[in-house]
Amino acid sequence: MKQQLESIKGEAEQALANLSSMQELENIRIKYLGKKGALTSVLRGMGSLSKEERPIIGQMANEIRCYLEDKLEAAKSMLHQKQKEEKLKQEVIDVTMPGKRKSLGKKHPLSLVLNELEDIFIGMGFEIAEGPELELDYYNFEALNIPENHPARDDQDTFYINENIVLRTATSPVQIRVMEKSKPPIRIISPGRVYRSDAVDATHSPVFHQLEGLVVDKNVTMGDLKGTLEIFAKRLFGSQSKVRFRPHYFPFTEPSAEMDVSCFACGGSGCRICKGEGWIEILGSGLVHPKVLQYGGIDPEVYSGFAFGMGLERMVMMKYGIKDIRLFYENDIRFLRQF
Ligand code: DAH
Repeated sequence: MKQQLESIKGEAEQALANLSSMQELENIRIKYLGKKGALTSVLRGMGSLSKEERPIIGQMANEIRCYLEDKLEAAKSMLHQKQKEEKLKQEVIDVTMPGKRKSLGKKHPLSLVLNELEDIFIGMGFEIAEGPELELDYYNFEALNIPENHPARDDQDTFYINENIVLRTATSPVQIRVMEKSKPPIRIISPGRVYRSDAVDATHSPVFHQLEGLVVDKNVTMGDLKGTLEIFAKRLFGSQSKVRFRPHYFPFTEPSAEMDVSCFACGGSGCRICKGEGWIEILGSGLVHPKVLQYGGIDPEVYSGFAFGMGLERMVMMKYGIKDIRLFYENDIRFLRQF
């Protein structure tokens, strides 16, 4: 029996020496020290021993158990240490490696100028309103005093979803939606995407952006329109800029005017950018037509208003001397990086 115990001890020691995983360690523990392990089965056989031998073998078995337990514990902590070292080795960082540069994006020039426009108008007490791009024919045309068969529908030939729904051709329908929902005084701008079935070229795109403006209050006059838009132009193009208004026609305003700004490139003497004119047209405007106020649920006997609309792409092209509208939508990083 003594011999049996010695050989269990030897075997276990050897197994522990070649250990490589926690699983193996556990297997060894079960095999030698477990309830059904080798040591236990030896102790079970002690009944056949003589009275004198029993305590001696018992003591020896206990010593071996303690000894093996210590060994197991030591092997366990050694394994832990080894695993930790391996992990550290794997996770080693080469601080001399070149870093990965994160490239920071920039605002698109359309957003850049739109933000500027918004700041200017918010500074004058305007709020921002939004409307749907899929618009009812009623808001896009009818309520803006463009009845069916009106020739103005031809210039704004658009995409019809069905008889009543179009992709809006301008941001002007937001005027009606705002008037329906709010009471004067109204002071809003409404930027957004608009659609026309135009062929793509350097100055046309079937999708582009406009910024609409609407002011409705008591006693709003052409003087308010001119003053507000002149301040706007000077803020955007510089205080040396001059503006002029030319009579025009829009179905939803009466009277109507187009506003020109003195050419920011030549200051008004005439150059390539203004095609020798000295002036550049930047927006349409006018006093809100009484019928349009009525469509918006506002009494034209009590209130009056002015409105304006401008193309965002046009503004940005002028401001930065961009010659092709398609550059805005191609997302060529070399173009976008310049702003
Ligand atoms: N809706 C016009 C267009 O798309 C722009 C416009 C002109 C808007 C005059 C207005 C305005 O509000 O008063 O060409």
